[in-house]
Amino acid sequence: MCSRMVNIGILVSGRGSNMEAIIKKIEEGYIRNARVAVVISSRRDAPALEKARAHGIEALFIDPKEFWKEPNPERREELRLEYDKRIIAELEKRNVDLVLLAGYMLKLSPYFVRRYKDRIMNIHPSLLPAFPGLNAQKQALEYGVKYTGCTVHFVDENVDHGPIILQAVVPVYDDDTAEELSQRILEKEHEIYPEAVRLYIEGKLRIEGRRVKIKD
Ligand code: GAR
Repeated sequence: MCSRMVNIGILVSGRGSNMEAIIKKIEEGYIRNARVAVVISSRRDAPALEKARAHGIEALFIDPKEFWKEPNPERREELRLEYDKRIIAELEKRNVDLVLLAGYMLKLSPYFVRRYKDRIMNIHPSLLPAFPGLNAQKQALEYGVKYTGCTVHFVDENVDHGPIILQAVVPVYDDDTAEELSQRILEKEHEIYPEAVRLYIEGKLRIEGRRVKIKD
């Protein structure tokens, strides 16, 4: 069990409901010895920014200047790295120990992943390795699976790929719309993401290759 305070940095791009679920579990004392030191958004208009501030948390927009539109792949990766270094500088200023991606829609550079090796988590709305990438809920509906869910995993250099910490399963109904299915999955996201953070902070996660062992 860690007894010192763990500083968390949360990266967001949109609504911020997972971010808020984690903040609430800290406020309620379910996650102890942790504080959200900063929230950083890749989008100026992300509702997550105001939500974080409403909880008294510092929230910054760092402008990516649409670097992904750069046509030259090498230059694009340089711009990604520059952007990630600006984020890392803010995280370092606040001694962030653990980085949480919560609806953060940009791929991290290998530099970022190495800098916070085994200290970055992500949530994805499918049972990985099924349906990585965008619109995972729609992908699940179109594929015709009977069950889908969500996954919290450590982040490695590939998108939606690193070692899996927790998953939750939800049924898919015949008449589901993508919105209904997304909502059913989201309720589970709000349970397993704070739980994964708690397990990490209590020192209960051990990564062995692709497997994450959970100490009880
Ligand atoms: C969540 O459903 C999350 O799983 C998904 O974005 C949504 C963000 O919602 N993330 C991904 O698809 C990452 N590949 P939120 O901003 O309300 O937490």
